[in-house]
Amino acid sequence: MKSIAFSGLTLGLLAVTSSALEPLTIKGSKFFHADGTQYFMKGIAYQRSPTDPLVDKSQCQTDATLMKELGANAIRVYHVDSAKNHDDCMKIFEDIGVYAFIDLDDFPTYIEQDGPPHWNESQLEAYTKVLDNFAGYSNLGGVFVGNEIITKSNGSFAAPYIKAAVRDIKAYMEEKKYTRKIPTGYSAADIAELRPNLQNYLACGDDSAVNVDFFGLNAYEWCGEATDYHVSGYDKLNENATDYPVPIFFSETGCNVPTPRTFKDQFAIFGPEMQDVWSGAIIYEWIQEDNNYGLVDYGRADPKTAIGGDTWNRGGKPTPLPDFSALKTVWASVDPTGVSLNKYTSTKGPISCPASTAGIWNVDPSSPLPTLGQTAVFAEVDAAVGPTTVASSQTTYSVDPTSTSKPNAAGRNGVAVSGGFAAAVIAVAAML
Ligand SMILES: *[C@@H]1O[C@H](CO)[C@@H](O)[C@H](O)[C@H]1NC(C)=O
Ligand SMILES: *[C@@H]1O[C@H](CO)[C@@H](O)[C@H](O)[C@H]1NC(C)=O
Ligand SMILES: *[C@@H]1O[C@H](CO)[C@@H](O)[C@H](O)[C@H]1NC(C)=O
Repeated sequence: MKSIAFSGLTLGLLAVTSSALEPLTIKGSKFFHADGTQYFMKGIAYQRSPTDPLVDKSQCQTDATLMKELGANAIRVYHVDSAKNHDDCMKIFEDIGVYAFIDLDDFPTYIEQDGPPHWNESQLEAYTKVLDNFAGYSNLGGVFVGNEIITKSNGSFAAPYIKAAVRDIKAYMEEKKYTRKIPTGYSAADIAELRPNLQNYLACGDDSAVNVDFFGLNAYEWCGEATDYHVSGYDKLNENATDYPVPIFFSETGCNVPTPRTFKDQFAIFGPEMQDVWSGAIIYEWIQEDNNYGLVDYGRADPKTAIGGDTWNRGGKPTPLPDFSALKTVWASVDPTGVSLNKYTSTKGPISCPASTAGIWNVDPSSPLPTLGQTAVFAEVDAAVGPTTVASSQTTYSVDPTSTSKPNAAGRNGVAVSGGFAAAVIAVAAML
């Protein structure tokens, strides 16, 4: 390790002191702290505007102070600038015990669903720049190769391209002799027709060089007080995750119909029904926007400078909203211990790759993954596996009242998606 000239990364690792937040490790389907206790994620989606929030030291400090009060131990950031330095903000979050989960893609580089799907050198280069920029931070929890790349029930053609990205990111870490292999995963929209095929496909077989190290699900199924483990559909999510061989968590959650939110799903996720299977949740989201998912607001902006017609300020002094107090109370009362690393033996062996099902899961488990530079050709795939589309009436998200109630719920291709961020910010970006 020490003989390898590796700008930035080596320095970052050497700078680790005893007070540093040690990197998380993964064994079987769980995350662990360096002291062997299990890590359960209590995370916040932290993206105040379409641009990198981790470059503003004083804003990070202000927000981190409140996040500590809230009891958060993770943030998720969707868009960062690999040309910028992140030392100050990463240290501020490290000091309060917060791990950062970073999306490697950005608006020009995300893997497209209908584009047709492709994965190429420019995308890989952009992803690895982000990886290099963050890899030296001991509180980098993990990276996502994409967020809700697939938003349609007929979008399975893109799945091999997601897995190809995982493969190439992991190969890059090998090639560059990363001393720490950064956990690499994917964050999926909750699409009933693709469940659990996509989840299983990304972690199937026994080749860890191409499989995700963790899987995140963006789910808005649990809405309001009257909901419970069974009504919400979480029991179904749990059934399909029970044998999952790597950590799985909610990479976005927090249905906001009705408001104010009570976050009762956290009792299930961290409770006896789910804590053995799930590693926690990331609440969508920190900042109040027109979509009304905020835990804090920064006041109203001048309409002339407002982003995409949304007049909420993107920074400044945060004022906690009722949802902040509700989440703080709920999180304070759920504190699973889990299992300790030395007592844990994962019994979850490799899972089999889902069989191709014409019209639903158009992925032949025996086909090689796309090579770097490859683009999907829908016509050829059509001939091989039959119809590529399913009736639009089948394009449902199991229980997702939020998909239509989010003001910015138009996705990349004008369809409703279940997740909050991809839709909202892409709509905004288009107007910049
Ligand atoms: C990769 O694809 C993007 C579009 O997603 C395109 O802009 C870029 O030119 C492509 N790069 C290469 C090397 O083909
Ligand atoms: C997923 O869960 C459903 C019940 O919710 C079950 O019918 C199905 O067999 C499960 N599929 C897999 C592959 O585990
Ligand atoms: C999937 O369905 C949409 C309509 O919802 C259509 O526009 C798109 O072309 C379809 N994609 C494929 C690969 O068939």
